[in-house]
Amino acid sequence: MNLKEMVGYKAAEFVKDGMVVGLGTGSTAYYMVEAIGKRVKEEGLVITGVTTSHRTAAQAKELGIPLKDINEVESIDVTIDGADEISDDYQGIKGGGGAHLFEKMVANHSKEVIWIVDDSKLVHKLGAFPLPVEVVKFGCQQVFRLFEEKEMDPSFRKDDKDDLYLTDSGNYIIDLHLEQIENPHEIAAWLDSLTGVVEHGLFLDCVTKVIVGTEDGPVVKDVSR
Ligand code: A5P
Repeated sequence: MNLKEMVGYKAAEFVKDGMVVGLGTGSTAYYMVEAIGKRVKEEGLVITGVTTSHRTAAQAKELGIPLKDINEVESIDVTIDGADEISDDYQGIKGGGGAHLFEKMVANHSKEVIWIVDDSKLVHKLGAFPLPVEVVKFGCQQVFRLFEEKEMDPSFRKDDKDDLYLTDSGNYIIDLHLEQIENPHEIAAWLDSLTGVVEHGLFLDCVTKVIVGTEDGPVVKDVSR
């Protein structure tokens, strides 16, 4: 079992009958969705899933996990998702898979947020992983130039055909190569203030439990907020 699979299956153990569960996106979340799908099929687990991308929705449907749109649920009991980086103080960067807008909305409406990662995602400070910023198409070159002026080393994300990457909402992503982020709250607040920026990948003060995959097994850490 690889480390992503290990934490995906471990996280699925925290899901209980009757829960509304936010289903994350990415190669680690994939295993969590698979594990929940198995529990639904084999144990008769009764849950409602709220997905964070078209990809995850397709996988969950295929596995027979009952789904509702985020607008149809009152609240979400727990959201389980991957992350690209987690710092010593449990702040995160997400959006390597381009799904951070829906992921953040689902996480923000959840009572509990569990991140599942292999140990390569743990860092002292955030920033080595490029920070994804989803922008609307209109005026995106102006936003890009602003990032250049601020020396944030921006690049437009491309897809595997070398076209500009399109999110599930039809927007572009600009990745900021910041190397080390000393002040995540300041950067998040500034990005939040920019017109044309839809959402960025800084997930701050959000996670309540982290499950890390190590060669010795999964390590579960509760984060007090
Ligand atoms: C999707 O946009 C992301 O936020 C993912 O959750 C994150 O990139 C982790 O993905 P992997 O588990 O594939 O590394």
